[in-house]
Amino acid sequence: MEFPVFQFSYLGSGMVIGLDAVLHVIISHGLAIGAVSFIVISEYLGLVKASRDWEAFARDFLKFTIIITTGIGAITGAGIWLITSALSPRGIGSMLRIFFWPWFSEWIVFTCEVIFILIYYFTWSRWVRERKLKHIYLGMMYVFLAICSAWLITGILGFMLTSDGWPWAKSFWPAFLNPSYLPQLLLRIGMAFSLGSLFSAVFLLFTRREGTFRIEALKLFGKAALISFSATAVFAWWYFSVVPSTFKTHAVFAVLTSRFSQQPEIFWYVNCAGAIMLFTFSLVSMRSASALAKILIIPALLVSIGFVGEFERIREFIRGPYLMPGYMYANQVLLDETPFFNKEGIVKNDPWLTMSPDNQGIAALGAGLFARNCSACHTIGGINDIAKKVDGRTVDGIFVILAHTHEMAPFMPPFSGTEDERRTLAGFLYGLSKGTVKEHTPSRFAPAHAHGGGTHE
Ligand code: HEC
Repeated sequence: MEFPVFQFSYLGSGMVIGLDAVLHVIISHGLAIGAVSFIVISEYLGLVKASRDWEAFARDFLKFTIIITTGIGAITGAGIWLITSALSPRGIGSMLRIFFWPWFSEWIVFTCEVIFILIYYFTWSRWVRERKLKHIYLGMMYVFLAICSAWLITGILGFMLTSDGWPWAKSFWPAFLNPSYLPQLLLRIGMAFSLGSLFSAVFLLFTRREGTFRIEALKLFGKAALISFSATAVFAWWYFSVVPSTFKTHAVFAVLTSRFSQQPEIFWYVNCAGAIMLFTFSLVSMRSASALAKILIIPALLVSIGFVGEFERIREFIRGPYLMPGYMYANQVLLDETPFFNKEGIVKNDPWLTMSPDNQGIAALGAGLFARNCSACHTIGGINDIAKKVDGRTVDGIFVILAHTHEMAPFMPPFSGTEDERRTLAGFLYGLSKGTVKEHTPSRFAPAHAHGGGTHE
């Protein structure tokens, strides 16, 4: 175990990564691909219809979009690196070794995107008349590059759920072009245009007065929304049809959690209501009912953001015990390492735990074992609180269930460590549930010996 474990209090590591990533998805899909596409289309309509309204709308909307994409979009994108390197260093490190070239290419593509959108923006008032068409091509180039980003990253995201034969063959292309790759790419593009049409409608309805232009534009965005929602629904269906059923069976639980999972119908009611809401908005817009559209647009946007969050949550959750199926568990222990840790122990192979005499107490070792084994998904005192999960059990009961975590819930990895360590963790968790042990973070992070532990990676 080469890296220390960071635990993010209350939210837990998965939620922190997820919040940043979903915000990034909304901006990178919805604005960079979706909104900019509609900006380019609006600019084109301004040209062919010789319409100042379309032209001005495109330019104003671009100003808004560029601030959000180059500001928040870029920061949340880099943030995923920062956060995962701290919270899931082995996971992201292993992924980087497999997908070095896609990520390397993505840095170049991303840099080009920023350059293109800035040129697109700053040449707006200068590339006019005979150069206008060229200016429109610039915008199209940007959208093309943004789709290239999605093309590169989706291979990696798909791999994390459908790694297919990679754990055995270890070859790059099948891993990148894995079974869920194409449907997921199309689904993401569908999401991008769905969000993009809604963002365009928001900007239109809140910055333009009632009038012929607003009605004409609303009709277009409503129609685009209808097509995009339908395409997204079809691609979502395709995507989930290639996800192996062992994973897919946990999709409803992923959303409802144990709190509501006894009433799975809630899942279907809420999703259907959301879909009806979105389609209603698009039909209302196509019928040019702009006052009603203005009332519906914000709820529609929130619903679509909810769908994005739901999709990402399901995708991340259902890969369950794995971070990389067939290779690494969610707690960053390799599948191959488990027998080794069960025999030799996890503590003594962890330089971060063996380092200082302060950390030798039972509470400290228990906290360390919890950190290594469970903190990827459970917190102490926050979301998915481990104390609540073991509450009401005896210390022996906890000792027993620790040997069966992967059977209690199919999305939990097995415990890694010796029987003694299992007993130590049981004592720690029991103490937490009774309030006799407080959260304990090993105090000094300095490896005791330079060569790290004896893991055989
Ligand atoms: C891959 C993520 C993950 C890891 C790692 C993980 N768990 Fe869980 N665990 C969950 C989820 C998700 C639930 C269900 C949450 C809910 O109630 O909605 C859960 C539920 C539980 C429950 C309640 C199960 C039941 O049926 O009552 C216990 C006990 C538990 N976990 C203990 C542990 C312990 C101990 C560890 C570390 C050895 C651990 N978990 C590691 C994700 C994980």
